[in-house]
Amino acid sequence: MNKIKIFDTTLRDGEQSPGASMNIAEKIQIARQLEKMGVDTIEAGFPVASQGDFEAVKRVASEIKKSSVCGLARAVEGDIKRCWDAVKSARKPKIHTFIATSSIHRKSKLGMTKKEVIQNAVKAVKKACSFCKDVEFSAEDATRTDPEYLIEVVRAAADAGAKTINIPDTVGYALPAEFGELIKRIRNSLPEDVVLSVHCHNDLGLASANSLEAVSSGASQIECTVNGIGERAGNAAMEEVIMALKVRKDIFGEISMDIDTRQIFPTSSLVARLSGMQVQRNKAVVGANAFRHEAGIHQHGVIKDKLTYEIMTPESVGSKVEALYLGKHSGRHAIKERLERMGVDAGKIDIEDLFERFKKLADKKKQVYDDEILTLVEDQIGSVRKIYELDYIHTLSGTKTVPSATIRIKINKSGKKSRVIQEAAVGDGPVDACYNAINKVTGIVPVLVDYNIKAVSRGGDSLGEVTIRIKEKEASGEIQGRGSSTDIIEASALAYISAINRLKVLKSGKGGGRLRANL
Ligand code: KIV
Ligand code: ZN
Repeated sequence: MNKIKIFDTTLRDGEQSPGASMNIAEKIQIARQLEKMGVDTIEAGFPVASQGDFEAVKRVASEIKKSSVCGLARAVEGDIKRCWDAVKSARKPKIHTFIATSSIHRKSKLGMTKKEVIQNAVKAVKKACSFCKDVEFSAEDATRTDPEYLIEVVRAAADAGAKTINIPDTVGYALPAEFGELIKRIRNSLPEDVVLSVHCHNDLGLASANSLEAVSSGASQIECTVNGIGERAGNAAMEEVIMALKVRKDIFGEISMDIDTRQIFPTSSLVARLSGMQVQRNKAVVGANAFRHEAGIHQHGVIKDKLTYEIMTPESVGSKVEALYLGKHSGRHAIKERLERMGVDAGKIDIEDLFERFKKLADKKKQVYDDEILTLVEDQIGSVRKIYELDYIHTLSGTKTVPSATIRIKINKSGKKSRVIQEAAVGDGPVDACYNAINKVTGIVPVLVDYNIKAVSRGGDSLGEVTIRIKEKEASGEIQGRGSSTDIIEASALAYISAINRLKVLKSGKGGGRLRANL
């Protein structure tokens, strides 16, 4: 059977999506889920980019046992050493080093001749091999590189010891037929035991198509991200390439992959929640409408035989989650048991805190659904030190009223006694009024970049989840905040406060602010 390796880069390229940065606890949670799903490699970050990236890769490396854990490094000695320090505790460590090969990148970015790029690539691969058995080399912007020269570079990297050669379509420029031809040529130029990998971006909406064409042309590893998140228009979506390989066995033949496809949907939801990058409703495989049949004629067909309009079942991608629920009489034991059933390691979370928040929620609504419990867990995992804590909120709004908010916030500064500050403000609406009042308390006036709200479960009493992105000023990086409550104004305030807490932690340097290295 033809083995196709799945190399997940959600925590590295995916995290390079504007506004998608995750904290260490969130990255570990995603890494555990990716391992459970069965991916071969988890690219956990770019260790030299920041102290936070380094710590995250290191923590993922020491947690993950089955998948190999990889870090990215430019073809620079310092990057490679830093990367090794981050991944070396992994059971299966991997170093991924890269250099750009296209003439535009060589001239405008690197200022190197063709010969110098080859020399640097070889030197980097040798250095990486001196630390680690498993080394991957990428020729950045490969698809805009002269193919003859590209082959020269990747052969040199393979001769220097790279076990995997990766061909990135860095700017999403390739079309399937030409990419397939390129992959065939490269496959024929490399020793058989070298794994040929592809890494496609989605600027023309072709990332999955190009990755699949590459498999037909001899590639045996696909680099992809959950929900297709990533730089600009994103990367090849993992769920799309995996399901295409499974569904179209008639074209690809029997392919062996270690993936449990029933974990696709839970993984997608987790990444959407923690990255703040919502999945569009009509997204292939994991969108809310992916298995919904609306037209009467379709419904009629599906009732008679699902295969009339379904090429895969929702169950096969784990999308039909049992609508089980717990209520206010449920105890800690029931919650622990439910968490285990949903694949959450109850030993790794603060059950008392979760139980307290569950009880508050169950008091407000009859039934607490699994998704809502997961939201409470994720709120806990994603939270950073609570410098600002919401104590009380009151808003006023209506068609003939100027929206206003009164807010009381507890301020917990380390080494100082907590104090409570109350402020009031008006705004364009109750949420805006709340945010203005919070700004007065904190003295921080960030730019609100994005605001999203969704119902976690069903019914008018559903837990509402708000995800926002802020930046401190026009030119600074985006920070995400999340909050949930049955009251959407409270959820909005909690999301804003959580983003401000993250901003404070990043500024204090204790959260490892991401200083993106020049890729
Ligand atoms: O898109 C790209 O070229 C990359 C490389 C670093 C593999 O992400
Ligand atoms: Zn990329």
